[in-house]
Amino acid sequence: MIYLDNAATSFPKPPEVLKAVAEALAAPASPGRSGHAPALAASRIIHKARKNLARLLGAPDNSRLVFTPNVTWSLNIVLNGFGLKPGDHVISGSLEHNSTARPLSRFQREGQVNWEVVPPGPDGLLKPEDFKARLNPKTRLVVLNHASNVTGSLAPAKAIKEAIGDIPLLLDAAQTAGSMPMDDYCQWADFIAFTGHKGLLGPTGTGGLWIREGLDLRPLSVGGSGSRSESLVHPDFLPDALEPGTANTHGLAGLAAGVGFLLDVGLDKVRDHEMELTQWFLERIIDIPGLKIIGPGPGVKERVACVSVVLDGWSSSDLAAALESGYGIMVRSGLHCAPLTHQFMNTMPGGASRFSIGYFNTLDDVKTAAWALSELAAKKPSRA
Ligand SMILES: Cc1ncc(COP(=O)(O)O)c(C=O)c1O
Repeated sequence: MIYLDNAATSFPKPPEVLKAVAEALAAPASPGRSGHAPALAASRIIHKARKNLARLLGAPDNSRLVFTPNVTWSLNIVLNGFGLKPGDHVISGSLEHNSTARPLSRFQREGQVNWEVVPPGPDGLLKPEDFKARLNPKTRLVVLNHASNVTGSLAPAKAIKEAIGDIPLLLDAAQTAGSMPMDDYCQWADFIAFTGHKGLLGPTGTGGLWIREGLDLRPLSVGGSGSRSESLVHPDFLPDALEPGTANTHGLAGLAAGVGFLLDVGLDKVRDHEMELTQWFLERIIDIPGLKIIGPGPGVKERVACVSVVLDGWSSSDLAAALESGYGIMVRSGLHCAPLTHQFMNTMPGGASRFSIGYFNTLDDVKTAAWALSELAAKKPSRA
């Protein structure tokens, strides 16, 4: 199998991750609850996960980093807990995933907020001045997908934050956390939401959110926290305020190991490897007759390692099926939970076929993928 679907979930996970999950599952775990030795060991696992992630993001205070089941949950904690009121104005980028677009669309339909989308420039990239131009006295929040899971384009997040000044920026780092250095992000972003199972190399069911000091969120759910148990009022201090219920200890053990692996390798090295393969792939496929790259072509540095294509005569699903059956290549077809992006890229309703490269891919993997695409471009799908 040649796995090129790392934007969906990364594979393989480093052996350290498998070992950490198995070890944590083999022990009784009630972190932050009981006082016996295995419970304390479980608390240490959570502490390690928090410490590793705080290092990866350069967070000055570990306690402002909370764990959630995935980035969708983290984004919803902010969007629902930030205290948006009818009449408030929220700006977002145009390459948002449904994990922000659906909550924002629901608020809009229910008259809760006025949601405005910033379109990309002719080159498909977002411009900081277009965010600034849309600010008005009612603007409360800017939501930004850091990197598109369709086009791979990387938003100029720091420049956008500089352009919007004091308005809080919520960054969806699903496609960037673990794939590029981000150790200065806590110096300027306001909320950083991440998922554990993609670039961070952890298991599914893990994710989190970093929250700038001074920003308060009303918890989406409250309950047992292992702290202040005498009170019927849920604690208001972090991380307990946003972590009700028993933590996913074995998942976080795996996430701690995945992030530990990345810190040892170095995020520069991860980024260089992924970009080298991506540029090689883009350069090889750009001249394939009938093939269109959806997003930045070769030479653009502001991108991540995800490349979507449309091939004349092929539906995105037929192409993905032919890649799997003929070459053992796994990609994702369709709309990638990002209909807004496909609208802006004129790839509705069929979507595109997405090749997403991870740290464990090799040059041979992308060579085979480029060769497979050029062979298929010369054929008609068998169903046609
Ligand atoms: C940009 C972006 N945001 C959000 C998500 C949602 O991730 P999860 O399903 O882990 O919550 C994804 C996953 O595909 C994504 O690519």
